[in-house]
Amino acid sequence: MPLVSMRQLLDEAAKGGYGVGAFNVNDMEQIQAIMEAARETRSPVIIQASRGARQFAQDRYLYHLILAASELYPEIPIAMHQDHGNSFETCKSAIELGFTSVMMDGSLKADGKTPSSFEENVEVTRKVVDFAHERGITVEGEIGVLGGVEDGHGAGGSGLDHITDPDQAVEFAERTGVDALAIAIGTSHGAYKFNKKPDGSVLKMDVLIAIHKRLPNTHLVMHGSSSVPKDLQDIINQYGGKLKETWGVPVEEIQLGIRNGVRKVNVDTDNRLAITGAIRKVLWESPEKFDPRDYMKPAREAMQKVVALRMTQFGQAGHAGDYTPVSIADIAKGYKDGSLSTRPLVAAK
Ligand code: G3H
Ligand code: 13P
Ligand code: ZN
Repeated sequence: MPLVSMRQLLDEAAKGGYGVGAFNVNDMEQIQAIMEAARETRSPVIIQASRGARQFAQDRYLYHLILAASELYPEIPIAMHQDHGNSFETCKSAIELGFTSVMMDGSLKADGKTPSSFEENVEVTRKVVDFAHERGITVEGEIGVLGGVEDGHGAGGSGLDHITDPDQAVEFAERTGVDALAIAIGTSHGAYKFNKKPDGSVLKMDVLIAIHKRLPNTHLVMHGSSSVPKDLQDIINQYGGKLKETWGVPVEEIQLGIRNGVRKVNVDTDNRLAITGAIRKVLWESPEKFDPRDYMKPAREAMQKVVALRMTQFGQAGHAGDYTPVSIADIAKGYKDGSLSTRPLVAAK
């Protein structure tokens, strides 16, 4: 089937009360791993590419690989999403290339490092929403700032530095008309999120719940949602790696989020760990090997296993065939005639 609107995937997820994993890709094998996991678990899926990924792979390759996936797996609804767009121009170029969804991360300035002001964030996000919705494309915005730095993107620091203020989240949703709202609740990108199993002092699920109470119909997005499982860390270290002890976001906390309005769950690091562990194992155990297929195949299988598990844990498994995808042109009409309203329902404090 053709690539579908992320808005439709998230609306359906809200009806079904589940979350949808959004998995980052940089190459063909990662796309293949996600698609095999989606088929195995019968899941709709969001495949996302960061600016770094678009540069690394050349984005036309990624676009055509994802189109190939949609032909090869016609039973799986796929939304193709720009992760952490840093500017109107980045989002526009993604839309022009054929992405069906974009994130305008206006929580940072266009340098992708410096936190922006609330007004700057509203202004650039609103501009992207106007451009995207006219074309039937979904928009995710971010209010509050995540911790950490990935590939030069991010404000750095701890996830606690810029936690989302629920009142600002309400105003941001009202003024921008985003389809999905990423919030900062103490997570950060990458492997080093927490130095012990996180509790409520560092992972602010109470803030997420407060935002969901005020914006009960808004699709919330959790970034930095890798769980950084110990077994994946151990494989890397067993075969010559040097990861320091670290904790990610426990799956049960993500599931609590899903019960409180989280519809999109971003996962990259867990897949990176799975791939790296599998490659290290082959090269460590068989140093004579030099055919990339000898280590890329186990790497792809290791990623598939992680993705399939997350799809089951997030609840999207089994939902691939629940609905008939609406064309992007019809989604555009829906935004225009108001049937796909982006005016949030706001509950009193
Ligand atoms: O936003 C964070 C994702 O993990 C993507 O990371 O910018 O290194 O591709 P990246
Ligand atoms: P992780 O680094 O926790 O996988 O987060 C990925 C992410 O948020 C991509 O936008
Ligand atoms: Zn992110």
